[in-house]
Amino acid sequence: MTTFTGAGDQPDSGLTSLPAYKALQAHYESVRDLHLRDMFAQDPERGERFAAEAAGVYLDYSKNRITNGTIPLLIRLAEQCGLRDHIEAMFTGKEINRSERRSVLHIALRAPAGEQIVVDGEDVVPEVHKVLERMAQFSEAVRSGQWLGYTGNPIKTVINIGIGGSALGPVMAYNALKYYSHNDSHRDLAFHFVSNMDPTDFVEATRGLHPEETLFIICSKTFGTLETLTNAHAARAWCLRALGNEDALKRHFVAVSTNAEDVAKFGIDTANMFGFWDWVGGRYSIDSAIGLSTMIAVGPHRFREMLSGFHAMDEHFRHAPFEENLPVLMGLLAVWNTNFLDASMVAVLPYAEYLNRFPAYLQQLTMESNGKHVTQDGHPVDYQTGPVYWGEPGTNGQHSFYQLIHQGTHLIPCDFIGFCQSLNPLTNQHDELMANLFAQTEALAFGKTYEQVIAEDIPQWQAPHRVFEGNRPSNVILLERLTPYALGSLIALYEHSVFTQGAIWQIDSFDQWGVELGKVLASLTAPELESESEPPLNHDSSTNTLIRRYRKLSRQPRGLSEDSAAGSDSEVPS
Ligand code: F6P
Repeated sequence: MTTFTGAGDQPDSGLTSLPAYKALQAHYESVRDLHLRDMFAQDPERGERFAAEAAGVYLDYSKNRITNGTIPLLIRLAEQCGLRDHIEAMFTGKEINRSERRSVLHIALRAPAGEQIVVDGEDVVPEVHKVLERMAQFSEAVRSGQWLGYTGNPIKTVINIGIGGSALGPVMAYNALKYYSHNDSHRDLAFHFVSNMDPTDFVEATRGLHPEETLFIICSKTFGTLETLTNAHAARAWCLRALGNEDALKRHFVAVSTNAEDVAKFGIDTANMFGFWDWVGGRYSIDSAIGLSTMIAVGPHRFREMLSGFHAMDEHFRHAPFEENLPVLMGLLAVWNTNFLDASMVAVLPYAEYLNRFPAYLQQLTMESNGKHVTQDGHPVDYQTGPVYWGEPGTNGQHSFYQLIHQGTHLIPCDFIGFCQSLNPLTNQHDELMANLFAQTEALAFGKTYEQVIAEDIPQWQAPHRVFEGNRPSNVILLERLTPYALGSLIALYEHSVFTQGAIWQIDSFDQWGVELGKVLASLTAPELESESEPPLNHDSSTNTLIRRYRKLSRQPRGLSEDSAAGSDSEVPS
C-alpha cells in the first residue's frame, strides 16, 4: 500500500521473519477452524485457566480463539521482540520515542514520593509531587469557595478548554468519577469542556453563565494548538466584556502547559500555571496537571487514589511474568486478532454509564499511538498495525450496532468492561445490566446453530436469519466498583496494552506525525475562505470547487437563507 522514496523504502520484515511469528502462522493454520463451542466443551476449566487478575482488575480472556499453545507462542514472540527490554527502557527514562527524541515517562506521574526516576541526570519524581501539591492547594481553594473571582464571588463553573489529550482525558475522567464529585465536595460545582473549533462549542458551554463566577482552565501541552488558543481567546473576550479589566483575568484563567513563555504572552499569570514535561505525551497526560479539572471535581484525596490505581498496574506490568501480566496478555491478544485472525477493529463496550466517554478516550490512546506505517527505523511495515477502536456503553449499543457484531461479515473482537457493584443501586437494575454483559459474551462465543433454531419450531424459511455463527472473540474486564483507584488501573491497563502492541509491531507508539499534514493545509486554506477579494485557488479541482461554493454561500446574508428556509416551510401543505 505504501510507496516510499529514500533510505527507509525497504519493507521491514523483521517481525514477520521472526521464528515465533512463523510458528504463530503455522499455529493459526491448525486452530483456524476450531470453534469456541468445542473448545469450551472439551476443556471445562478453560474459563478459569484463561484469566488473570491484578490491581483490582480481573481479565477473562478465555473467549478468544486460542488454544493452550497460543499464549506460550505469543509470549515467545514478545520475547523475540525484546518486550522486557522495551518495558525497562520506558521505566528507566530511555528515549523510546525515537522520532521525537523523547523519553516516555507517564509512569513517573504516578510514582510515589521517594521513588527515583532519572531523566538527563535529574530525578523527576520530586518535581511531579511539587506540581501535585500546588494542584491540591488550588483545587481545595476552588472547592471550598476561598478562591474568589474578580468581583469577590466564589467560582461556580469550571470550563476546561483543550483538545485531544488535553480534553479527552479530562472529559472522560470527570464523567467516570462524577459520583465522587457530588458526594465529597463542599459545594456542587459545574464542569464544562470546550474543544471544538466550531464556535458553537464555546457558545453553548457558556450560555447563561456569569463570567464573574467562571474559571477557565486552558490546557495545552504546547500552548500552540489552534483550536485551544482560538477558544481561549473567545473566553478572554467573553470575560473582558463583562469584567472590563485585564487584571480580572488573573482570577478567572489558569493554564496547564509545558510552555510558560506563551502562557505569559497570552496574559495568564504564570503563578497560576501548572506545569508538566515533554516526556508526557498528550494522550498519556490525564494523571498530570491536565487532570486539574478532575482534581477540582473529586478532590485531591480521590485524585491521589486514582494515581495509586495507575501505579499498581504499572508495577504489575513491569514485574509480573508475561503469562500473568494483564496488559501484556491483552496486547498480545490484540496482535493475535489483528495479525493472524485478520480483525481490523476492536469494540470497547463498557457496561457503566459513567464510562460513557471511555471509548472516545481510548480512540486517541490507541489509534494516535499505534496508527503507524513505518517501524522505529523508518522502514514501511509489511503487516497490519493498530486496529480501529470504537464503542458505546452497553446496553445502548445492543440496540444499535451489536447486530453487525453478531451476524455481520466483519470479525470484531470486543472488550466488555463491567463492575460487580453499582454506585447507584436501584432495585435489580445493576443485575439486569450485568446479565446483559455476560449474555452478550456467551452469544458471541457460542452463537446458535441452525439445528438449535429449527428445534425451536422456527419455520425453515426464517431459520437462516436466526442463526448465530458465534466464534467471535471477546475479553471481559471485570472490576469490583468504579472507584478512582479502579479507573486509574483500568486506564493504565490500556496504556500498557498499547505499549505491548507497539513493541511487537516495532513502531513508535508515542509520536503523532499523522496529524500534521491536515493542520498545515488548513492553515493555508483559512485565508482563502476569509479573504475579501476572490483569491487565486491552486488546489485540485474538487477542493477548488468546494471552496468557491463555500465562499459563495457563507457570504449570503443570513436573513436571506433564514427567509428562504421559512419560505420553503410555508410551501408545505398544511
Ligand atoms: O493534534 C494532535 C495533538 O498533538 C495530540 O497529540 C494532543 O493531545 C493534542 O494535539 C493537543 O495538543 P496540546 O495539548 O499541545 O494543545
